[in-house]
Parts: sequence; C-alpha cells; structure tokens
Amino acid sequence: MKVNIGKIEAGQQIVAEWRGQPVFIVRRTEEILSNLAKLEGTVADPQSAASVQPEYVDKTNRAIKPEILVLVGLCTHLGCSPSFRPEVAPADLGADWVGGYFCPCHGSKYDLAGRVYKAQPAPLNLPVPPHTYESDDVLIIGVDQEKA
Ligand code: FES
Repeated sequence: MKVNIGKIEAGQQIVAEWRGQPVFIVRRTEEILSNLAKLEGTVADPQSAASVQPEYVDKTNRAIKPEILVLVGLCTHLGCSPSFRPEVAPADLGADWVGGYFCPCHGSKYDLAGRVYKAQPAPLNLPVPPHTYESDDVLIIGVDQEKA
C-alpha cells in the first residue's frame, strides 16, 4: 500500500494500516538519530540480531532512509499497540526518557528505532515491515526494496 509521507512534520508520527496492523511512520530529527547511538548499552538488541526486519534496513537505526522510521506497531510481548511518546523527560517516564514508545499493557519501552529497552516484558524490537520508496514522498509498505 502507498502512503504519502510528505506532510509528516519533523519529530512526528502518522499511523497507517497494513494487513489489519498499525504501521508507525516517524520523521526522525538529527537529535533523535544521535540519541539512538547513545542508547546502544540500554537497549536489549541494539543491532537487531534477534529481531525482525528486512535485510536491507540498517540494523542499528532500522531504516532505509535514516530520517524515516517504519515499524509494525504491535508490541512483541502480547501484541498491544505501543503509544508514541516523543517528548523528552515527561513526568511519567522519567528524566532519562529521550523519546520512544511505551506499551500501555505491561509497560514495555522502546526507543525511536523500535528497539526494546533491557529488562522489559517484550523480548524483541518492534518489527520493521517490508517497504520501499516510489519517490521521496511516497512510501510503499508491503513491497521489498529492490536490490541495488
Ligand atoms: S503487550 Fe506490550 S508490554 Fe505486554
């Protein structure tokens, strides 16, 4: 399915529906991307070795284009849909929170690459679905990027 991503503001998310599942699409800022590197020791699977994503995405930032994150929005614990919490240090998530996802069912936390923090109920990073780009503004979900 095609999604126009041209109007997603920096740091914001839209949610598409693909095969009955929510797909989170986030336009990441430079600040978000630099924070990902700082979280390497805090997330459970920083290189996504055990997690689900196509082989053509970067294993650390988990995207084709670093600024555009595409995730299946279902918690890897029991399948609730995590909340997008991009704000820094909100009262309920603490001073160390640099933005990410919070699952309301049992409290699993993920970063803005969908990487699960250590010692959470969820075992794995949020999956990245197959995707590719028709143009800068048109994302296609469910179709693999062709090999270069
Ligand atoms: S379903 Fe997300 S923490 Fe349990």
